[in-house]
Amino acid sequence: MAHLIGDKARALVLPLAKQAAGLVTRAIPIPRPTLLVGPGASRRLAEAIAGFGHRRVFVVVDPILAQLGLVDPFIAALEAGGCRHERFDEVAPDAPIPMVERGIEAFRAARCDAIVAFGGGSVMDAAKVIGLAAANRRDPRTLVGYFRAFSGPAPIYAVPTTAGTGSEVTVAAVISDPEAGRKLVIADTRIVPQMAALDPELMAGLPRAVTAATGMDALTHAIEAYISGWRTDESDRLAKTAVRAIFTNLQVVCRDGSDLVARERMALAATWAGMAFTRANVGNVHAIAHQLGGRYHTPHGLANAIVLPHVLHFCAAATAPRLAALARVIGLGKARDAEPALANRFIAEVEALARAIGIPERLDALRASDIPALAEAACWEADTNYPVPRRMDEADCAAILRKLLPEVSAKPPSSGRTKAARSGAGARNGRTAPARARRAQAGD
Ligand SMILES: NC(=O)c1ccc[n+]([C@@H]2O[C@H](COP(=O)([O-])OP(=O)(O)OC[C@H]3O[C@@H](n4cnc5c(N)ncnc54)[C@H](O)[C@@H]3O)[C@@H](O)[C@H]2O)c1
Ligand SMILES: [Fe+2]
Repeated sequence: MAHLIGDKARALVLPLAKQAAGLVTRAIPIPRPTLLVGPGASRRLAEAIAGFGHRRVFVVVDPILAQLGLVDPFIAALEAGGCRHERFDEVAPDAPIPMVERGIEAFRAARCDAIVAFGGGSVMDAAKVIGLAAANRRDPRTLVGYFRAFSGPAPIYAVPTTAGTGSEVTVAAVISDPEAGRKLVIADTRIVPQMAALDPELMAGLPRAVTAATGMDALTHAIEAYISGWRTDESDRLAKTAVRAIFTNLQVVCRDGSDLVARERMALAATWAGMAFTRANVGNVHAIAHQLGGRYHTPHGLANAIVLPHVLHFCAAATAPRLAALARVIGLGKARDAEPALANRFIAEVEALARAIGIPERLDALRASDIPALAEAACWEADTNYPVPRRMDEADCAAILRKLLPEVSAKPPSSGRTKAARSGAGARNGRTAPARARRAQAGD
């Protein structure tokens, strides 16, 4: 399809179509879940669900969370309230379609009439798609895109256990097609959960590398929403609040995961950022990160974190007043400082934050020979979806990707995995972190 339209025509036609879509998007009512916030909020949500009189609740979780027993108090509270349930604990990272299909079968077989998503973005997105596909008796692949379903899902309740995706409040669900090596986005206002519990106690044991990567996903949502062409006054307020909270709390939770106050603020920040981007959409960072996730299984937050500074440099001139405003939000500069200088200071601060929490600068899994295909797919995704402040063509995108290629080391490769890879940030892309990031990781 990309070849049929041609790069020049795309550059002319699609921005107009996106402007029109932006007018519609601003007017669409987006449901807001009722939020329960604070230590113990997940148990209070279970008590509320038990009181709603559902016939049987389908609890979606992943095997690690099940093994850690993190979901057990929630299930105990459901049972104490007399609520029958069926547990599905097979969710794998990035919600691959074959697993989603098993979930749809299990949901139907158990004759459930409500869904609880208890986990990170992978679990929440799997649960959303299980509900939507089951309600419509459709293959999940046919739901990819905007508003492709006829009926809405059974009521969905969300308990996020990472502070990153904001999926507990968004209209989106991202699944992956392992055969095609692609990530697929389903968007529908009816998959927004009815209620969500932000419970910092569940996040206290989140590994440092996952904390860092998911926190950077939330920061990317807030920044991309803030510089989006579809932004509104409300999405701006939410994005700025999220940016401030992330700069204040992300390093704290990376140093001390048991700080429940900072964990709660990060959970709220991820939710605010989710609300901001579910209205204003994301941009070039996500367009590139989705390709890296689809091809190399790079964790989503990590891919965003590595790409973010490069995209900000790429669009700095086009969006200097917005980035300068974010600089002021985090207390940089003086009122009279020139906007381009402030914008650069903000980008430098994003880079410093990423370094401080152990995000590597490069992606070991990335292959130079893959770059043309990755750039084409990323530009197609951005052109057809995202109201970006500066359009990226395939040459621009390839130039960004080349900056992420692993450094060629003079030393022979070590036989073992790096500390960063063992700690989780790189565990799924096998990359070797550069020395600076390795030093930061050493504080694990
Ligand atoms: N729907 C949306 O709006 C949206 C937005 C952004 C990203 N996403 C998608 O979400 C997915 C990523 O979600 P994620 O970043 O939350 O990661 P994830 O759900 O894949 O979880 C990452 C890892 O952390 C573990 N984990 C989760 N919570 C834990 C806890 N409290 N303690 C210990 N371990 C825990 C999980 O078992 C998993 O191994 C991607 O597929 C991404 O594309 C969706
Ligand atoms: Fe994201």
